[in-house]
Amino acid sequence: MAEKFDAIVKRSLTDPEGFWGDIARGIEWDRKWDTVLDRSAAPLYRWFSGGQLNTCYNAVDRHVAEGRADQLAIIYDSPMTGRIERFTYRQLRDLVARFAGALTNEGVVKGDRVIIYMPMIPEAAIAMLACARIGAVHSVVFGGFAANELALRIDDAAPKIVVSASCGLEPGRVVAYKPLLDGALALARHKPDRCIVVQREQELAALVPGRDIAWDEAMDKATPQACVPLAATDPLYILYTSGTTGEPKGVVRDNGGHAVALRWTMEAVYGAKPGDVYWAASDIGWVVGHSYIVYAPLLNGNTTILYEGKPVGTPDAGAFWRVISDHKVKILFTAPTAFRAIKRDDHEGKLVKDYDLSSLQALFLAGERSDPDTLEWAERHLKVPVIDHWWQTETGWSICANCMGLEKLPVKHGSPSKPVPGWDIRVLDEQGRETRAGEIGALVAKLPLPPGTLPTLWKADQRYRDAYLAEFPGYYKTADAGFIDEDGYVFVMARTDDIINTAGHRLSTGAMEEVLASHPDVAECAVIGVADELKGQVPLGFLVLNAGVNRQYADISNEAVQLVRDRIGPVASFKTATVVARLPKTRSGKILRGTMQRIADSEPYKMPATIDDPSILDEITAALRSAGYAR
Ligand code: COA
Ligand code: AMP
Repeated sequence: MAEKFDAIVKRSLTDPEGFWGDIARGIEWDRKWDTVLDRSAAPLYRWFSGGQLNTCYNAVDRHVAEGRADQLAIIYDSPMTGRIERFTYRQLRDLVARFAGALTNEGVVKGDRVIIYMPMIPEAAIAMLACARIGAVHSVVFGGFAANELALRIDDAAPKIVVSASCGLEPGRVVAYKPLLDGALALARHKPDRCIVVQREQELAALVPGRDIAWDEAMDKATPQACVPLAATDPLYILYTSGTTGEPKGVVRDNGGHAVALRWTMEAVYGAKPGDVYWAASDIGWVVGHSYIVYAPLLNGNTTILYEGKPVGTPDAGAFWRVISDHKVKILFTAPTAFRAIKRDDHEGKLVKDYDLSSLQALFLAGERSDPDTLEWAERHLKVPVIDHWWQTETGWSICANCMGLEKLPVKHGSPSKPVPGWDIRVLDEQGRETRAGEIGALVAKLPLPPGTLPTLWKADQRYRDAYLAEFPGYYKTADAGFIDEDGYVFVMARTDDIINTAGHRLSTGAMEEVLASHPDVAECAVIGVADELKGQVPLGFLVLNAGVNRQYADISNEAVQLVRDRIGPVASFKTATVVARLPKTRSGKILRGTMQRIADSEPYKMPATIDDPSILDEITAALRSAGYAR
């Protein structure tokens, strides 16, 4: 049995101070901590209180000092532009130090926030690390969000500076970022002092005199800055993620616990040794990009790949295999949806055979449930372990995983394996009692959470308590439902809130409903996530119109779709809104979204005992059928 693994887990839970205190020696500290785990403000915990370090030093400068100066730190591979650029640790240090100087020139000091709204270009990672170098708190906003979403984040984070680029590149179109940024700044109440903009040759941006400055110009004027010591508990970044309303939650990450945990995961979870080439095929706008494109691989002295492309269409379904063979990737991490896209285009895996994949040792999948079909396809064609692992923006690293560097456990398809050391995962019923093995309930983590997880939400301690700690006292609510089987394997089945997962992206149906409700003809609406072969789930909207509206339904639906695209962004993948006469509700007026979803996905459902008028379900079924669902 998994004796070694079990012993490590046991120590991590019975002696967290000893366990994480030992691991923390892997990080260079400017000042050692006073307490490994500070319980004084429980249930809000802090790790390594009193300690001082610099995350950028540990991720970059340290490797230059310790013999990796000429090793590649970042490989930027962009099938969108046909460019490949390589940066050694020394080159990365020089660029980061210089951009830190550019930020300093603009008056950015420790504790100031910097919003980074950028495509997948090296300057994005350089900007993140430069913030870390001088103690500025970065907040990266994914490029697929619309101006309104960016404005919400600008108002919440109140940045001194925004770093952006003239454009992003999506297959077949150039996404002009600057008009989106200008739109966001017009909408936002908070006005940053300055925007630093990378001018890309595919589309140059018009710069606002006195406010905007080109990246190159800012770099030319800058003097390189050294790393400043920061408290372990100082924030490193804020990453906004979907909450249950249109107001995103600002997940805070600290410096100390984050550096300790992330470096450790590279070897323990992924089996990556310093010097190995590691590729997280995600986007720096998501937590996977923060943790596993930028911070963890660099903290561990790996070479990380920054890929500006897609799994298919750039140019074909062999794109990932080309990158693996060109750069000798040892570990690949992506979302199942990427593999579903590849499988769809190259079902027989013919393109796999065109490349030398001998460097690849493991594939990790996360971000959504891994369907066994896709997992088996990947195992069959890649002939390496395919590891499903479960985590969230809030946790920053995996809650459950088959830890390649500790002891490989037998794989059970459909399960992301067992809790990683540091995590005490339980399943609770509605009364907060632990369920029996195999029984579904709320997946929760016993407090304190391990280092690197969110200590709180940005300027919103009470919201943090309410959203995560209040329902099950003593536990962190993951908002995922699932069960633990008799062997201790965790199965993650569904969200318990209104979050859906579209192409590995986390979206709030509540936020989409808020947008739809703002349409002048809409009296009431509901958005549910329906099963999609490629993206896992996609949102589907229902609109009830105001009395007396006699416009064409198709026009209203199209306007509703466009409204979500304009206000949330194309990433929402919101393509269908159906007009219905009424929505099914309980007698107390709660919309029966779960039942609607089961009907849409052609799953059996029980007539809810509290339903107000059962006949509405027939109307909904008919509407879903005409939209191509409920077969
Ligand atoms: N900037 C601007 N627009 C973006 C964007 C960005 N950074 N990223 C995506 N979009 C747009 C897309 O162009 C698309 O627009 P469209 O409606 O005009 O076609 C829309 O947002 C939806 O994007 P997506 O859901 O990614 O769908 P897609 O059809 O473009 O691609 C996949 C499908 C499967 C190829 C793609 O989702 C993918 O590569 N997934 C990999 C998984 C991943 O990276 N997950 C992140 C967490 S690990
Ligand atoms: P995000 O915060 O965007 O990383 O999304 C986190 C959510 O994605 C989780 O709460 C889960 O609902 C889902 N998720 C992530 N990884 C997995 C996985 N391996 N299996 C099932 N669901 C997952």
